[in-house]
Amino acid sequence: MRDLPWAALFTHTLAQIDPAMEELIATQRVQNTHSVNLVASETYSPRATLEAEASALVDKNASGYPPREGFGGGDVMDRIERLACERARALFGAEHANIQALSSTIANVAVLRGLLRPGERILAFDPAAGGHGSHGGGRHISGQEFEAKFFGTRGDGSVDYEAAAAIAAEFRPRMIIAGSSAYPLSLDFRRLAGIARDVGALFFADIAHVSGLVIAGLHENPVPFSDVVTSSTHKTMCGPRTGGLILCREEHAAAIDRALAPGLQAAPGGHIIAARAVLFALVARPEFTTLMQAVVAGAQGLAEGLAAAGVPLYAGGTATHMVVADLGGTGWSVPALNAALFRHGVVANTTGLSGGLGLRLGSTPMAIRGLDSSGFRALGRWLGAFLLNGVGDRGFAEGIAALAVHHPVPPGLELT
Ligand SMILES: Cc1ncc(COP(=O)(O)O)c(C=O)c1O
Repeated sequence: MRDLPWAALFTHTLAQIDPAMEELIATQRVQNTHSVNLVASETYSPRATLEAEASALVDKNASGYPPREGFGGGDVMDRIERLACERARALFGAEHANIQALSSTIANVAVLRGLLRPGERILAFDPAAGGHGSHGGGRHISGQEFEAKFFGTRGDGSVDYEAAAAIAAEFRPRMIIAGSSAYPLSLDFRRLAGIARDVGALFFADIAHVSGLVIAGLHENPVPFSDVVTSSTHKTMCGPRTGGLILCREEHAAAIDRALAPGLQAAPGGHIIAARAVLFALVARPEFTTLMQAVVAGAQGLAEGLAAAGVPLYAGGTATHMVVADLGGTGWSVPALNAALFRHGVVANTTGLSGGLGLRLGSTPMAIRGLDSSGFRALGRWLGAFLLNGVGDRGFAEGIAALAVHHPVPPGLELT
């Protein structure tokens, strides 16, 4: 092995092997450093999780579920996965956890395929109102394999639970799904679970965005009254990207596990599972609760600042980490708005708002960077004035640059 030319390349650095990629990554790092990050689905991964992701496990074939008998030496992976699942169950009080899904979208498909037959009916929170496409959206396989109807919001942005109950009574879905991708208030999962129970449907809560708040006790935990709950681990749970979490009642475990693997994927990333296990230990600590309190207070400050500047807010404000500015009346186009914000040092993302234009903003990354609620309020005021008055505000760009410098991005693995 030592004489092979390939072996000699193993010790070369990224910069030596692929300077173009090294430069692109460096560019991203510089962008991160100089911008104020308001992307609601982003975070900064703690170093311990990154160490697990960049470990020997990245090369391990971890196919199957514990106990793995198909590979010699599979017991280490078994222990890692059991630890991850045990910690996940303890965090949420769940009967069963599956931590293998390669994304939350795949986790959602596994749930649908595990518990329903093709063509069965689902009722979900409308993606156009802030739900997620993997809950029966027409362009997603969940909307193609199952027959979906949706409930949404009233004119004031409140969720129309009466409509949900009425549609459920008539449509008789086999499953009700609720979860938000761009809805800033809490969904009343308990009420929706009751509607599901009344019509003999299963209830599935997708807490991809709010799972960190659930862990910190700042959002009701739907696990005790849901058949199944899924989550991302890279949004408010603050871990590395990719990898979904499924929590369910024991009675659904075998069907969902099978639907995921081998039904949808083969070997999971051993490194991803290990990093999640580390993350679950981290977020059980009191420091995480304090962070989540800062995240919610930050979103409230941001909403107050935007409202003070005169920006209309979807659903009137926030109860989570997320604020959605309703920019329907402003004349911004999606590319012009994103480009203008980026030029001034702000990263965020636009979202369709029942046909109009919304700007989705989240407080998690900047709360991790130490911005407090009064800082968020000031940021909301500047941002609001910019959104309403348009491009070219030099003071805005300077303010943002100063904010980014005073609240630096955590170093990750880059200090090694
Ligand atoms: C509610 C909800 N579910 C699922 C997903 C999908 O997550 P992933 O990107 O891990 O597939 C998202 C992503 O934004 C989401 O908001």
